[in-house]
Amino acid sequence: MIQFQNVSMAYPDGTVALREINLAIGDGEFVFLAGPSGAGKTTLTRLLLAEERVSSGQLEVNGFRLDRIRARQIPHLRRTMGVVFQDFKLFNKMTVYENVAFAMRVIGEQRAVIRKRVPFFLDVVGLGDKAKSFPEKLSGGEQQRVAFARALVNNPSLVIADEPTGNIDHILRDELLELLLRINKLGKTVLVVTHDEELLKRYRKRVIQLEKGRLVSDTAASGRTGETA
Ligand SMILES: Nc1ncnc2c1ncn2[C@@H]1O[C@H](COP(=O)(O)OP(=O)(O)OP(=O)(O)O)[C@@H](O)[C@H]1O
Ligand SMILES: [Mg+2]
Repeated sequence: MIQFQNVSMAYPDGTVALREINLAIGDGEFVFLAGPSGAGKTTLTRLLLAEERVSSGQLEVNGFRLDRIRARQIPHLRRTMGVVFQDFKLFNKMTVYENVAFAMRVIGEQRAVIRKRVPFFLDVVGLGDKAKSFPEKLSGGEQQRVAFARALVNNPSLVIADEPTGNIDHILRDELLELLLRINKLGKTVLVVTHDEELLKRYRKRVIQLEKGRLVSDTAASGRTGETA
């Protein structure tokens, strides 16, 4: 469960990235977060991770109140979610296997569990044969799939994917979206950040639209309802 109540967020330089956001996303939903460049999409995902704090308002995520969360609770919050960042954030000096295993090590997972689960999730994303490769030697789409495996490996209840702009082809992007839909069918909440209008039309899922930091529309999965602004 994600709930924003009158959430605003300004960066230290004074840029107001989000204004008075009211929004609820239930467990198990599949939601697209759309809007032009600079609208506040990545900022919203960074609030969910407690990488940034709200400036005002209330924000609840998976049972944690992020407007008043303590630093020592943040690792517990982050264990409930898996994230694919816009720039992937892979470690270039680690192999594909190590990149995924690292996410499990930081939360203190047992070695035997790591050895089982990493190859399993590399297979899930179709990279079973790339375990020993280094991220720099992979295509953009393959790097994204490593980021996916890493996001999924700790069995999160919320998966967030911030779509990279431009560097993956359409067929690959569709494959990744199908993967996210499968993940959603397993009962996980999925939030996909995208610029791509065509994607939104094709999949007919709930779409939350941001513009200049404001939530300008929220349409349900089956049709157009609930225009705000
Ligand atoms: N660290 C920062 N410090 C100051 N301003 C920032 C910072 N990061 C982002 N912003 C600003 O906040 C606003 C929202 O940025 P954000 O990255 O959330 O947009 P976005 O919707 O993800 O855009 P894109 O589609 O290009 O990824 C923009 O005006 C941006 O310039
Ligand atoms: Mg962004």
